[in-house]
Amino acid sequence: MLRSLSLSLSIYIYISDHTLFSSLKISLNSCLHFNLNLSLSLSLIPTMVFSLLLSVITLGSLILSLLSSLSLFFNKLHLKIRKFALYSCPSIGCLIAFYKNRRRLLDWYTELLSQSETQTIVVHRLGAPRTIVTANPDNVEYILKTNFANFPKGKPFTELLGDFLGLGIFNVDGEKWSIQRKLASHEFSAKSLREFVVKVLEDEVESRLIPILDDAAENDRIIDMQEVLRRFAFDTICKVSLGMDPLCLDLARPPPPLASAFDAASAISAMRGTAPVFAVWKLKRTLNVGLEKELKEAVKLVHGCVDEMIRSKKGTMGGNSGGDLLSRFLESGLDDEMVRDMVISFLMAGRDTTSAAVTWLFWLLTGHRGIEKQVVDEITSMKNGGEQLGFDDLKGLNFIKACLCDDMRLYPPVVWDSKHAVKDDVLPDGTPVYRGNRVTYFQYGMGRMEEVWGKDRLEFRPERWLDESGMVKMVSPYKFAVFQAGPRVCLGKEMAFIQMKYVVASVLRRFELHPVRSEPPVFVPLLTAYMGGGFNVRVQRRGQQ
Ligand code: HEM
Repeated sequence: MLRSLSLSLSIYIYISDHTLFSSLKISLNSCLHFNLNLSLSLSLIPTMVFSLLLSVITLGSLILSLLSSLSLFFNKLHLKIRKFALYSCPSIGCLIAFYKNRRRLLDWYTELLSQSETQTIVVHRLGAPRTIVTANPDNVEYILKTNFANFPKGKPFTELLGDFLGLGIFNVDGEKWSIQRKLASHEFSAKSLREFVVKVLEDEVESRLIPILDDAAENDRIIDMQEVLRRFAFDTICKVSLGMDPLCLDLARPPPPLASAFDAASAISAMRGTAPVFAVWKLKRTLNVGLEKELKEAVKLVHGCVDEMIRSKKGTMGGNSGGDLLSRFLESGLDDEMVRDMVISFLMAGRDTTSAAVTWLFWLLTGHRGIEKQVVDEITSMKNGGEQLGFDDLKGLNFIKACLCDDMRLYPPVVWDSKHAVKDDVLPDGTPVYRGNRVTYFQYGMGRMEEVWGKDRLEFRPERWLDESGMVKMVSPYKFAVFQAGPRVCLGKEMAFIQMKYVVASVLRRFELHPVRSEPPVFVPLLTAYMGGGFNVRVQRRGQQ
């Protein structure tokens, strides 16, 4: 067996406020390990060839990294370094800083952004385009709206998810995007879809979610609330998008194959973007080895399931097709492949986002019982004591909405999102952008900027979202960009709030949650962020000691 492990990372970070404040250099090289077993079978030859190629590429990148280290050392040593006390030699200073911060990269980036006068930094990473990371609302508005045409997702992004998402709305730009956007926006604004969503929520909450919590309360059973909410969200989004019930929220059973394949495909696609040696996944894909082989199998399973559903849906169409998105898209006359890619994008977009937001809110409320009481008061003061929740009742839950907004400000389900510049440009704060540069708006950092949210920015304080009459204030979507903003704003935003409010109201009206762990959980950013280690809780019926 031949294995090679390599890591070569090179990052230069400039704090961009027209002055180069700091240059950080990381060069982390771990050695290649060769371990040769002489009795190799023929089937291992592709793996060997691949590993050898990987090693050659890695060695090349090590040499390049070393050369760039040296050139940076000799070229930039004269720069005035006004910040970062640890910084004595460009290579070593940053190696220490990066190494020290490797488990808290989001907070480290946030600190760098808050030290920049315009909340913008420029990052150079070996093998990746020059990247501008910004938490500045004016820049965000410029990228997402004012000069939208210059900042598409771009090939570097769409390539990563392309095998999985195909030409679905989430993963295309230009004409292909705008056709789907128009059609989907039309369907999303339909009253019938809203009614359908509320009906799906009612079924899933009453017949599955509440019985699980009841059982946990009755038997003093510890449950992982994050896992419960993820499975709930998968059932819900499958029912809404495909009109099919995957029966995922049954903790006694392993997740259904569609859910596991979906998890694998999105995780491996996301990993393509974080591989230390750039675009090595393309080589793996050609050779059909390792994770790329797993991805191919997972995508085949997802495509197979959805294709089958399209066939069976077409067979039942003509009468009452059910109100789900798949039926709606098929009725609009799109071809089957396009419809398949579109619904997969919806599954992807609507899956883990709502469960992540609600998990973090439940955790925040366990540390803020006074705020939790206000939530419960809001529900029980509704006309029927919150026992039946229609679309209009849900729209009116202002305090819960404020809680969700402050929760997502601190723990956004999508921590950052990138675009790629078509032409040279200059952002409103003066940061130059060159053709092909990556421009990332950083939702996690934006929610924690003092300039944007004030001195109490790190506190969970839902009142900041409410006006004197208790209504939710209008806040610029470029300041609170957790749903993106502008022409490509999240299509499921309203549906997401309806779903999250429904779950929060239904659970907290009946139960109190008590975390098993006393230490704060870890925020882990993947394609969608989640709570490291899950959220294990004891469940108690409200009002019972
Ligand atoms: C708390 C929940 C949610 C959050 C925070 C959220 C956030 C986002 C973000 C940041 C984007 C932009 C991503 C990108 O362009 O790469 C996005 C796009 C999108 N979201 Fe959501 N989302 C949520 C829930 C949902 C739900 C429930 C659905 C659908 C049922 C949905 C459907 C979509 C779609 C279709 C897009 C693509 C829009 C386009 O490209 O034109 N989202 N969402």
